[in-house]
Amino acid sequence: MNSRDSEALAGLLQDRGYTLTDKPENADVVLFNTCSVRQHAEDKVWSEVGRLQKVVSRQSKVHGPSTMDHRPIIGIIGCMAQNYKEDIFKRTPQVDLVVGPNDLTSIPALLDALNKERSRALAVGAMERERNLYVSQYRQDKNHAYVVISEGCNNFCSYCVVPFVRGRLRSRNIDEVLGEIKSTIAAGIKHITLLGQNVNSYRDSNGRVDFIRLIEEVSRIEGLGTFDFVTSHPKDTSVELFKAMARLKNIQKTLHLPVQSGSNRILKLMNRGYTREHYMQLADEYKKIVGGSLSTDIIVGFPTETEEDFNDTVDLINGVRFDAAYIFKYSVRPHTQANELNDDVSLEEKKRRHKICLELQKKISKEKRCLEKS
Ligand code: 5AD
Ligand code: SF4
Repeated sequence: MNSRDSEALAGLLQDRGYTLTDKPENADVVLFNTCSVRQHAEDKVWSEVGRLQKVVSRQSKVHGPSTMDHRPIIGIIGCMAQNYKEDIFKRTPQVDLVVGPNDLTSIPALLDALNKERSRALAVGAMERERNLYVSQYRQDKNHAYVVISEGCNNFCSYCVVPFVRGRLRSRNIDEVLGEIKSTIAAGIKHITLLGQNVNSYRDSNGRVDFIRLIEEVSRIEGLGTFDFVTSHPKDTSVELFKAMARLKNIQKTLHLPVQSGSNRILKLMNRGYTREHYMQLADEYKKIVGGSLSTDIIVGFPTETEEDFNDTVDLINGVRFDAAYIFKYSVRPHTQANELNDDVSLEEKKRRHKICLELQKKISKEKRCLEKS
């Protein structure tokens, strides 16, 4: 989602006469589009901003203080902006601009103002605003494009900051989605990924179009090569969806279905709304009906996760045999319900569990690749 937002914003700014550079130290404006999902992602941003600041102040020492007047405008935008708001200015005095994910379209005007008069600008208000960010035709990849179908999320998984920084679920109008796909195809890009935090809860504003209807409509678009979608939530994923995936010729037979944990006790604490048995049955149906590849996300070291809970996760990985699994160490996130639980699994233990899952998945992925070849 963030890459698509960055791309669309780059398009808006280019329409205003800005050009892109891969040398931030020479830029007039440097924008960090940030993710708050895990602590690690945020730590990287703080250190990158600090690094840029050092480069800029070194340049001003070499070229004299007048260069300071031309130091780049530095912006922290996206989820961290929403999360920390004006506190960012206190923590990083070099930052001029703080803009939340639902206010990105205000950036060109804010930059105009900052270019006229250097001060600080903050826009982190509009949690539920319909954005018109995706009007730009700019695409970095000339073969494949992401098309956002919905923004925000209503699920409130207890560990997850997304509903607090991206707001509640808003589905884009179906005509807008189909229109964006058609113009992307007209620009020569034939492969599409539909994007949403939980694509299965897509509902067009008139309420008549659900996700299955949407993919049927997308599939019929003339000139489309292939398409797929991320991310699906197990509680909203159905056999009907699998049947549609099997029926539609140009949909890719891949499914990213985050399980998060194999322990029913932990799934309940995570507020995921399904059991391990339900998940495993869903995975079986998918394999039978669609027969494609299946990937997942797993969090290890959620508060109170015991060795027994963790073994349930290992057991689920062995049972489902995913084609790929992204394993994360739990990190405390502000605003979330899990914040109230004691983060009682030590970092060492999280690392140990992380390593076990990674190695197990590596072994399974390798075995599956060998099987495919033979
Ligand atoms: N700690 C660790 N991993 C997390 N994820 C989301 N929130 C957290 C958190 N607080 C992981 C989930 C999600 C993926 C995008 O990031 O596995 O599916
Ligand atoms: Fe976060 Fe859960 Fe929504 Fe995914 S479904 S974005 S994990 S709250």
